[in-house]
Amino acid sequence: MRFPLYVTLFSAVAGAAQCGFQQQCSKLASKLKIDNATVWFAEYVPAGTNLTFPDSDPSCGQAALAVGVDFCRVALHVDTSSQSGISMEAWLPRNWTGRFLSTGNGGLNGCLSYNDMAYTVELGFSTVGANNGHNGTEGTSFLNAPEVVKDFAWRSVHTNVVVGKQISAAFYNKKHSKSYYLGCSTGGRQGFKSAESFPEDFDGIVAGAPAVDFNNLNSWSGHFYLLTGAAGSPTYLTPDQWFAVHDNILDQCDGLDGYVDGILEDPELCDYRPEALICPPGTPANSSTCITETQAQTVRAVFSDLKGKNGTVVYPRMQPGSELLGTPYIYYSGQPFQYSADWFRYVVYNDPNWDPATLGPADYAHSDTLNPSDIRTWSGDLSAANARGAKILHYHGQQDEIISSSNSPRYYKHVAETMGLSSAELDSFYRFFRISGMGHCAGGNGASFIGQSRGATASLDPDQNVLTALVRWVEHGKAPDSILGTAFVDGTAGGEVAFRRRHCKYPLRNTYTGEGDPKDPGSWKCVA
Ligand SMILES: *[C@@H]1O[C@H](CO)[C@@H](O)[C@H](O)[C@H]1NC(C)=O
Ligand SMILES: *[C@@H]1O[C@H](CO)[C@@H](O)[C@H](O)[C@H]1NC(C)=O
Ligand SMILES: *[C@@H]1O[C@H](CO)[C@@H](O)[C@H](O)[C@H]1NC(C)=O
Ligand SMILES: *[C@@H]1O[C@H](CO)[C@@H](O)[C@H](O)[C@H]1NC(C)=O
Ligand SMILES: *[C@@H]1O[C@H](CO)[C@@H](O)[C@H](O)[C@H]1NC(C)=O
Ligand SMILES: *[C@@H]1O[C@H](CO)[C@@H](O)[C@H](O)[C@H]1NC(C)=O
Repeated sequence: MRFPLYVTLFSAVAGAAQCGFQQQCSKLASKLKIDNATVWFAEYVPAGTNLTFPDSDPSCGQAALAVGVDFCRVALHVDTSSQSGISMEAWLPRNWTGRFLSTGNGGLNGCLSYNDMAYTVELGFSTVGANNGHNGTEGTSFLNAPEVVKDFAWRSVHTNVVVGKQISAAFYNKKHSKSYYLGCSTGGRQGFKSAESFPEDFDGIVAGAPAVDFNNLNSWSGHFYLLTGAAGSPTYLTPDQWFAVHDNILDQCDGLDGYVDGILEDPELCDYRPEALICPPGTPANSSTCITETQAQTVRAVFSDLKGKNGTVVYPRMQPGSELLGTPYIYYSGQPFQYSADWFRYVVYNDPNWDPATLGPADYAHSDTLNPSDIRTWSGDLSAANARGAKILHYHGQQDEIISSSNSPRYYKHVAETMGLSSAELDSFYRFFRISGMGHCAGGNGASFIGQSRGATASLDPDQNVLTALVRWVEHGKAPDSILGTAFVDGTAGGEVAFRRRHCKYPLRNTYTGEGDPKDPGSWKCVA
């Protein structure tokens, strides 16, 4: 729907070809011979159909979806063990490019990424998605169910890909040419897990805001509740106070990139100190414009690395600049963070009554030692993926309010150290882009439309789109040096463009040259 031109092209298909395609689709269910699989249905979906998802768990909140191309939709269940299995779908477009693509998941879910499937099937990929081994957004299915956790850690994506490639080949009577992956957050972790452990699965991977170092991420995301306490505690900041902190952060750090626009190009440079915000003596309690010394201590801790029992960093600090997106719903809400609480209750301790208010360094250590099904995703060794010529495009929003953007440079450096490669050497197969002004996978006040999802696509031009950039890299050897992002005035694709900005390849950072219109990407430079 967002690509009127594209949709028109596809809708032009009609007549005899349609009949053949439709018949092929209806015959597919009986044609498929897949071990341990039960095919629910294979049905032809004409372009423009308003798909609804009655089988999707209500917690997934999956809205109806219209897809702009004709495709064959196959749904099946695949056993992954005697006690576990995945629900998956393959969407096979009439106008197939020969490419295969797997989508990923998010958070602790349990939900097919239908929006990503719509995006990529419209672009001509035979596309698969799976439910990650359980249904819904909660962690309750993990209770005393290590096989279900194993699906979540890696087996759902891998099975989905192995089976999906078979389905695609059976349908088109032809093997795919190249295989791709697109995912963000937990989906970003799944992308790196594939690169680390299943290098044969993909020729190209887009991994956004990856939830790598997963055990420690859950310790970190759970620890904010310990810092703030419940709403009303002396350590807790009200939303207005967080907004004041945000303004104060901008006062201190917004100019570091050469231009004051509410966007920190490189939050790593911001060593925020909250002292200037401490209320003068005699200020009435609960001021909205200043904070107490006790609250300042909360703020300092939020912006400091989390250290463990052994004194080493468990997980890096929250990066300054994400407070507007993070307030008041995420980590500063005065409530335990659900994903973390569920992970400890249903996986780490198998105890639904475990109290997230007791989380501490002993739990961090225990959780990371347990590392169920090696969900950590921190081997840092991408050599097998490199050896077979796979390319990895990694991005991370610098206003990410859920997964610290500081963890991505940390992972990048870990890969560099593990493999003993310089950035110039990594560039041949692994490139990381910092997307200023982007929240968790999307959103934010920056040029955050980079084609990472259907709703965040300004253009299919490979200079402006992480997915088509990856395809060009894999198939034509032209690697992206930067990603041109777009910001829209009303925050939705297709509207009036507010500005564009070219996001730099790590470790370069974007800086205003001091000359020219700051809304023009040409007025900025990637510097060392
Ligand atoms: C099929 O997709 C290609 C791009 O891969 C496009 O050039 C062509 O116009 C499309 N054909 C139809 C009939 O939509
Ligand atoms: C699609 O279906 C949903 C739910 O049935 C409905 O709310 C929505 O308006 C429909 N959209 C279109 C474009 O018809
Ligand atoms: C998930 O939902 C699908 C569709 O309703 C169902 O077939 C499948 O059995 C469910 N899976 C689990 C693990 O409950
Ligand atoms: C099918 O399931 C059985 C039992 O869970 C397992 O041993 C076997 O390896 C599976 N086959 C495939 C092809 O995955
Ligand atoms: C400050 O606000 C909290 C609620 O956020 C309330 O519980 C507390 O009593 C207030 N303190 C004062 C001194 O008004
Ligand atoms: C320190 O503890 C963290 C988490 O508790 C763990 O990830 C890390 O591996 C530990 N480091 C050492 C050197 O033991």
